[in-house]
Amino acid sequence: MKKTITDFDLKGKKVIIRVDFNVPMKEGKILDDNRVRESLPTIQYALSHGAKVILLSHLGRIKTESDLKGNSLEIVAIDLEKLLGKKVTFLHTNIGTEVEEKVNHLKEGEILLLENTRYADLDGKKESSNDLELGKYWASLGDIFINDAFGTIHRSHASNVGIASHLPNGIGFLVEKELKALSSLNKPESPYIVILGGKKVSDKLGVIKNLVTKADKIIIGGAMAFTFLKAKNLEIGKSLVEDDFIPFCKEILANYSHKIILPIDVIVSEKIEENSNSINRLVSDIQENEIGLDLGPETIELIKQNLAEAKTVVWNGPLGYYEIEKYQLSTKEILKYLTEKKIYTILGGGDIVAASSKLGYQDKISHASTGGGATLEYLEGKQLPGLEVIENKN
Ligand code: 3PG
Repeated sequence: MKKTITDFDLKGKKVIIRVDFNVPMKEGKILDDNRVRESLPTIQYALSHGAKVILLSHLGRIKTESDLKGNSLEIVAIDLEKLLGKKVTFLHTNIGTEVEEKVNHLKEGEILLLENTRYADLDGKKESSNDLELGKYWASLGDIFINDAFGTIHRSHASNVGIASHLPNGIGFLVEKELKALSSLNKPESPYIVILGGKKVSDKLGVIKNLVTKADKIIIGGAMAFTFLKAKNLEIGKSLVEDDFIPFCKEILANYSHKIILPIDVIVSEKIEENSNSINRLVSDIQENEIGLDLGPETIELIKQNLAEAKTVVWNGPLGYYEIEKYQLSTKEILKYLTEKKIYTILGGGDIVAASSKLGYQDKISHASTGGGATLEYLEGKQLPGLEVIENKN
C-alpha cells in the first residue's frame, strides 16, 4: 500500500502537489476542466489541514519557443480560483528567486501555482528527461511531495519521479481513486468484456496482447476495426488502416477468434463531413471509395448481446467518429446500455471520456479515468514510474 496524503501532518508544511492540469484547450479557452475539478479534493484537504500548497503541472508539449504562449497555466489558475473560491497566486515561471521568495512567504492555507513544468523542456528537455538537478531544485521548495497527477503517472519526469526521490512522499485522493478502480480489473468479476475503439491498432497493441487471455471477450470498434477487417481480406474502401499491423491482427484472429467481436455492418460515407451522404453497409459490401465512420445497427445489437451478462467492462476509445454528430450513435447507444443496465464500467481516459462527457454519460458511468496514456499502460501490465517511486506505508 502506498502512503497517501492522509499519512502526513501537513500543518505549517510546504506541500508540493503534482497535479495534471493538462486540459484540452482551443483558442485560449479550456474546453473541459474535468482534470482540474478532479484534483480539488486533494488540494482542499491540504489547505484545510494548514498546508502551504505549491502546485506543479505540465500543459501540452513544449518543443520550441512558439509552444510557450498557448501553454501557460495562467488560464488554469483563473479556473482553479473560481472552483476553490479562493485566491490562487500564479507565477509565470517555475525556477528562480521570484519562485523561492513567493514560496518562503506562503502562509498556511495559501496556494501557489507555478508555470508549466514543461517550460523547462526548452532547456535540454530537463523536465521530460527527469534531469536530476531540476528534480532536486523543485524538491528544495517543499517539505512533502504529493503526487496526484494520475494522467502523468506513466511518465518518469523531474516534476514527479524527480521530486519524489528527494522528499517524504505519498499519493493524493485522485491517484488513490483511479488505482482503486483499475485494481478491480486484477480480479474482475466475469464475464469481463473489453471494448476497444479509436483510430489505431498500434496504440492498443500492448492492451490487446495483455488482455486477450484475461478477458472473456474483446469488442473491436472505431477505425481500428478496419485493420482487423482487412486482415480478414475484406474490402474496406478508404477507411483508416494500418497495413503494418495486419499480420498482428491475423495472428490474434487465428488464436482468439472465439473472443474477438468485429463489426458486421458499418456506416460509411465518401467524405468525413457533417453534410456528406452516409449509408449503412454490411462489412462485406463496403465500396472502394467509402470510409467507415461508425458501427451499424446490427453491430450495435451484437455488442449489446455480448454485454448482456457482463459484470465488468473496460472501454478505451470511441466506437465511431464521435466528433461528428451523425457518427456518434454506436458510442452513445453502448454508453446508454451500460449505464441503464448498471454494468460496472471503467472508461480508460482520453477520447472515450471526452465522448462520454459530450454525450452526457460521464457522471453516470462507474469510473471515468482522467488518464488516457496512464490507463493504457496500466492495462498493458506495465509499471508506472510515478507510482513506483512513492513510499509504501509501514
Ligand atoms: C495526458 O494527457 O495523457 C497526460 O497529461 C500526459 O501527457 P503527455 O502524453 O504529454 O505526457
